[in-house]
Amino acid sequence: MAGCGSWVFFLTVCAVTVCGANAEIKFTIPVGKLFTYELMRETFQNDFEPLSKLYAGRLYDDPMIFKCNRQNFPDLPEWLRFTQRHPYDNGFLYGTPQTPGRSIIEIYAINKRSYETARHILVIKVAAERILPYQAEFFIKLRDIEKVLPSTVQDEIKQDTQKLWKTQTLSIINITNALDRGGRVPLPLGGHFEGVYVKVGSEMSFSECLRKVLKPEHQEQCAAGAEVKIPGECNFCGIASNCITWCKTELFDLSKPVPPPPVPTMGSGILEDGGDFNPPESPPSRNYFPDYIVTVIVPLILAIILCSLLAYIMCCRREGVNQRNARTNQIQLFHHHTILGNTDELRNMAGNRGIPALPLSTLPMFNSRTGERASPLQSDSPSIPLIMAQQK
Ligand SMILES: *[C@@H]1O[C@H](CO)[C@@H](O)[C@H](O)[C@H]1NC(C)=O
Repeated sequence: MAGCGSWVFFLTVCAVTVCGANAEIKFTIPVGKLFTYELMRETFQNDFEPLSKLYAGRLYDDPMIFKCNRQNFPDLPEWLRFTQRHPYDNGFLYGTPQTPGRSIIEIYAINKRSYETARHILVIKVAAERILPYQAEFFIKLRDIEKVLPSTVQDEIKQDTQKLWKTQTLSIINITNALDRGGRVPLPLGGHFEGVYVKVGSEMSFSECLRKVLKPEHQEQCAAGAEVKIPGECNFCGIASNCITWCKTELFDLSKPVPPPPVPTMGSGILEDGGDFNPPESPPSRNYFPDYIVTVIVPLILAIILCSLLAYIMCCRREGVNQRNARTNQIQLFHHHTILGNTDELRNMAGNRGIPALPLSTLPMFNSRTGERASPLQSDSPSIPLIMAQQK
């Protein structure tokens, strides 16, 4: 029995490995229409823990982040964008292809609990199609991009615009985060949203309601910054958060062919005669003397004054050595002379080594010439300094 169980386990692991490596999801989409693909965390969760449900009977709900890029390229194709608000939310790939072609997208999911990764491959084939001639762009103020991309919400918005346009043949062309169009990051408070632009297109011409946007009085009102309401008979928003901002509605009529730019006219190739060169007059002469005084003479005079002040202080007000000695305390002066004498003696001793074994500066202990020892108690009087006492 145990052998059988491990065989089942082994085969499952093999199957998952083989299927996981080849998991390729294919799409064929037309040019000029919105493509949305939701990266379901549940799907990837099954890749991470394929057997936990089977054996342990429990399913994790791990935080995940996604990395998407074109195969062998660092980035996504230019028309495709990715968004995920939070590791506990699903991610979305969305965008509108403008040219036919084929893109292979690699999606890596990183499990933020176990740091396992899983890879899915998306093959998107873009087929050529006619661009819809009538397009309109609406701004939905009370929405974030992730809340609009799920297909149910896209359908709700589509239904509202179908009523506004009075036609069923309508497709969503583009959905853009307002932040990508120069919008501001909202305050992190309830009731503040980033805003979303939704572009829809149709083969049918604009309805009466949409044409109101083109009227000059509408444009005047909006330019004045007034909060212009959607005209009553045109207001079809069923869900408050899907309501459009009437003033930011824009219509694009691509039904008329754009006239080609005018062909540049060819000249003879020779420049026209422009007359003789007329050199400009030389400017009037200017008196530089005041400037000279300010920049040269004044600093010079200041420098001379400072110099003479310094010279006076240095040369005429110097204290003489005799004057200073006269003012110094006798004991201090004596102490100073002793130190100088001792230093000289030590220098001499260092110069020629062969003289008395003991320097004169050790006199208090014994006399090197006489060999006489002085009594250490002899100069114990506190009133006479030690050095003076030895000299006596
Ligand atoms: C969709 O919107 C994005 C962002 O504003 C823009 O770059 C892109 O050209 C738009 N695509 C179409 C088909 O309008």
